[in-house]
Amino acid sequence: MSSKYRSDEDDVREATAPFQAEFPYERDEEAQVTRREFCNFLGLTSAALFVGAAGFAGKAVIDARETEVLAPALIDEAETLAPNSSLNFSYPTARDSAILVRTADGAYQAYGQKCTHLACPVYYSRNHQRLECPCHEGAFDASSGNVLYGPPPRALDRIEVEMRDGKIWATGRSASDPHDGGRG
Ligand code: FES
Repeated sequence: MSSKYRSDEDDVREATAPFQAEFPYERDEEAQVTRREFCNFLGLTSAALFVGAAGFAGKAVIDARETEVLAPALIDEAETLAPNSSLNFSYPTARDSAILVRTADGAYQAYGQKCTHLACPVYYSRNHQRLECPCHEGAFDASSGNVLYGPPPRALDRIEVEMRDGKIWATGRSASDPHDGGRG
């Protein structure tokens, strides 16, 4: 290609030289300012996006940890449950299957029965003292609901339980944190 068709920085400098004489400023400086301004713009935009995203993420985490206070419901015969065993109940509605575990140390823990992977019902394995999902071999810690292994992406949803006058009541429900991987 002949130099006649070239249009590089030197050509532009040459073509604009008369105007630079009338309005003296250094093109290099102008380019610097433009780059600086552009970098500032990028920086501010990135910061704004980061703050916005962090805000949404923070809100999601807070929402996820909030316990939904619901009408208390008596869990029938839970007080007779032997250590290292479980029973099924429904909470907060008849369609929400849940599982109450009395761990080997005698503590009561309750969870939504839906596996957090693809919603198969989990069960309590007395042999392994953990909650297991038969669909894809996921397992959860009986004391915390955290994922022990397998594909579930988060811990089981927790159901709050309280002992009142020797009876066990379900009093609320909280979704596990969807961002922590459920491994505790
Ligand atoms: S549905 Fe429970 S591991 Fe897949």
